[in-house]
Amino acid sequence: MWGGRYKLGPAEIMEKINASIGFDRRLYAQDIAGSLAHCDMLVAQGILSAKDGRAIKRGLVKVREEIEAGRFKFSTKLEDIHFNVEGRLTDLIGPAGGRLHTARSRNDQIALDVRLWVRDTIDRLEPMLADLQAALIDRADEYAATIMPGFTHLQTAQPITFGHHLMAYVEMVGRDRSRLSDCRARLNESPLGAAALAGSPHPIDPRKTARALGFDRPMANSLDAVSDRDYVVEFIAAASLTAVHLSRLSEEIVLWCSAPFRFISLSDAFTTGSSIMPQKRNPDAAELTRAKVGRIVGAFTALCIILKGLPLTYGKDMQEDKEPLFDAADSLELGIAAMTGMVRDLKANPERMRAVASADYSVATDLADWLVRKVGLPFRQAHHVTGRLVGIAADKGVDLDKLTLAEMQAVEPKIDRGVYRVLTVEASVNARKSLGGTAPANVARAVKEARKRFLPTKWGGGPKGRRGQTHGF
Ligand code: ARG
Repeated sequence: MWGGRYKLGPAEIMEKINASIGFDRRLYAQDIAGSLAHCDMLVAQGILSAKDGRAIKRGLVKVREEIEAGRFKFSTKLEDIHFNVEGRLTDLIGPAGGRLHTARSRNDQIALDVRLWVRDTIDRLEPMLADLQAALIDRADEYAATIMPGFTHLQTAQPITFGHHLMAYVEMVGRDRSRLSDCRARLNESPLGAAALAGSPHPIDPRKTARALGFDRPMANSLDAVSDRDYVVEFIAAASLTAVHLSRLSEEIVLWCSAPFRFISLSDAFTTGSSIMPQKRNPDAAELTRAKVGRIVGAFTALCIILKGLPLTYGKDMQEDKEPLFDAADSLELGIAAMTGMVRDLKANPERMRAVASADYSVATDLADWLVRKVGLPFRQAHHVTGRLVGIAADKGVDLDKLTLAEMQAVEPKIDRGVYRVLTVEASVNARKSLGGTAPANVARAVKEARKRFLPTKWGGGPKGRRGQTHGF
């Protein structure tokens, strides 16, 4: 491709370190969509004849068909996806193929391809996150009144409802989705027309290619256009946080499935057996989803370090962005799909959850709150009185509601029978009707509101969302 000045071929190791076709072939659809748009613009601007334009477009469509049919021979000698496509195009249509690269460089071409790829990936992942929310909301609806222990420090704190717990993740995933759409909005400018770095002397129309490829506008600065990979970092940052959320829920699933908890079970569909221990049912999907975050955050670190200190404009270093990017996106996609499956699959064990929620004096705060409301004690003092009552009950090895009125009055004479009404886990959760609280009535309302807020997607396409525009070209 640069034969003019070159007499010798590359060293074997040069070819090996330089070639990216092994992984950037994944960009073929974006690369060809960009070339089709570029070709149309060249014809419209009179830079390319209509006849050559037609031949190029026909050839590009043919190349795409060959790739999609698995008939295309990718060549390491041709280094990357751009040269592979252009090489085959020229085989197919002759020297006119060589006119496609007018007013373009691989620098603005790769910047375009990766941008389109990230945008397509966001358009695929975002509706998957909406599906995950739909699964969480459905299960929260089902378990709106199912009592479980709420933990702080992984110590029993207060009774909550399982539905409320699941709805917490609906909020997290909602923020994950909005981070992805923020990233999409910011990346949606076209680098085409920057050429190698300085722009082009040909009478090109970057607005036309930008519009054709679904971008809001062309990028304002050609140097920035070829050197910017912020959108890759932003995407992986958003993916990292999403993966962090998935790993937290995964960890909870692993704990909840374990024998000491027994809060939930997963079916055969989402567990594996042991080759030696016949009784085992391992939550592998949850463990793997918990671990995916390592690769994704690793990709984030890799990208930041690759770009750090890189002088303007394009540097071959940027070729190293692709494998971490692809791996992060693939890992996240798998994790979201596995989590959605597990959420739909899991079955709660309400008796066990309630039993654990009732133990360990989880309603102690309710007693203190009762003392504030009915006896008029300052909260600090109510806390102290409750602490003494918990101590007495613990010495006797009984729950708070098994203390006699006389035993309670010995600590605080103003306590009356009414106190027993607040000492059950049901009373505890029912009382927490404050905004965002755990009461079953709140959860039922939150479920309804969440369906409106999050489903269908704000882009109007229902949980399938808006289609990427690249392939439509
Ligand atoms: N394979 C390259 C990459 O991924 C494409 C751009 C190459 N540009 C160049 N001037 N060598 O970054």
